[in-house]
Amino acid sequence: MVHGHSRQPAIARSASPLTGRVRVPGDKSISHRSFMLGGLAAGETRITGLLEGEDVMRTGAAMRAMGAHVEKLGAEWVIQGTGNGCLLEPEGALDFGNAGTGARLTMGLVGTYDMQSLFIGDASLSGRPMGRVLDPLRQMGVEVLEAAPGDRMPIRLRGPRTAAPISYRVPMASAQVKSAVLLAGLNAAGITTVVEPVMTRDHTERMLVGFGASLSVETDAQGVRHIAIEGRGRLAGQVIEVPGDPSSAAFPLVAALVVPGSDVVIENVLMNPTRTGLITSLIEMGGRIEFLGRRTAGGEDVADLRVRASELSGVTIPAGRAPSMIDEYPVLAVAACFAEGATLMQGLEELRVKESDRLSAVAAGLEANGVDCEEGEASLLVRGRPGGRGIGGGMVATHLDHRIAMSFLVLGLAAEKPVRIDDQTMIATSFPEFLPLMSKLGASIEVLEPVEG
Ligand code: S3P
Repeated sequence: MVHGHSRQPAIARSASPLTGRVRVPGDKSISHRSFMLGGLAAGETRITGLLEGEDVMRTGAAMRAMGAHVEKLGAEWVIQGTGNGCLLEPEGALDFGNAGTGARLTMGLVGTYDMQSLFIGDASLSGRPMGRVLDPLRQMGVEVLEAAPGDRMPIRLRGPRTAAPISYRVPMASAQVKSAVLLAGLNAAGITTVVEPVMTRDHTERMLVGFGASLSVETDAQGVRHIAIEGRGRLAGQVIEVPGDPSSAAFPLVAALVVPGSDVVIENVLMNPTRTGLITSLIEMGGRIEFLGRRTAGGEDVADLRVRASELSGVTIPAGRAPSMIDEYPVLAVAACFAEGATLMQGLEELRVKESDRLSAVAAGLEANGVDCEEGEASLLVRGRPGGRGIGGGMVATHLDHRIAMSFLVLGLAAEKPVRIDDQTMIATSFPEFLPLMSKLGASIEVLEPVEG
């Protein structure tokens, strides 16, 4: 196990129905990008609804270290950016903690500058592959002065005098890689093109346009997206309203579906179609999810979700849906535990390089709790037991992964026996309000005495 910090186990037990209205924190992807683009753009950016999780705060600290002025005034985050092309060399290491998005996008953002930058992170982040971002950066002229074996952190970059614009075909479905190249293109003279065969979340494209970048997207006859950005343009500060994170809403949402008698409303959830694969899948399984008050806020579709306890049936989730629900498989696997029949999830190869190897972490956690499942190379099959009969009683190893921790606490809310996780501390990286929010709905989750890791 990758520990070495003080762990805080937690236990979830089945309880009364979940009821009430809640609002989940701001979207993590948009929050990271708000700090980055606000810190880079000339003038003032004002952000409301920002996710104040540890991951996003690391990105804020990195932008400060490179010359942006970032502060919280009342409910708003106010940033004075440096202007495109004017980031300063950071004096110390940029410590991204657990945050893959913060680290990979920032490598793109600053790698092309004629300066050095050092990237470090926790045990989980230091084990994750960074070559997927370093490869295109190398093509743009960035030198990797230092890296652990397999292009892992700590990583020290040295930018070229003048970065070369490139055309880059993203070899895996990854919004982080796409975004890193587009952000690197902001500081290259000319047009940088990203070719994206499988569409992933498009927040970087949308927000770059909002900040004034000259960016165009063309989708060819094969459905391949060609995203072109012109470097060295002017970016201007914006006013941003961050919608609620669908990847965080996923936890109370699945909990409400599987805890009998529940009826919950989750307000202001981002409905960008590149993020709603979980909701599509749960509705196919028979989940009673209603969209109330669909509207546009800050250039994105949002809705309030009414979710009621439902009798679920197993389905096959096609591989093509993976990019729109890539962070939601652990909690979908939990929903599948309570469905009639088997649920098959395919196209999961990217799950192996998340905050943990999520495919094996989910399978191990399910097995420890008596769930019948089969882990394939890039697939997971879960045989459900309606009512949760015989499920639970196990201890789950979370491997510093917030989504593993939250998913298995949700399992415990509807399983016959309680479910324990070995650590809940890293939930604060993405969803610091998770425990109080769940207990407001009526969930029974207890945090236990800390254990030295
Ligand atoms: C993210 C992209 C996804 C996702 C991550 C956030 C982003 O990662 O898993 O939580 O904000 O761009 P990949 O690009 O590795 O798929």
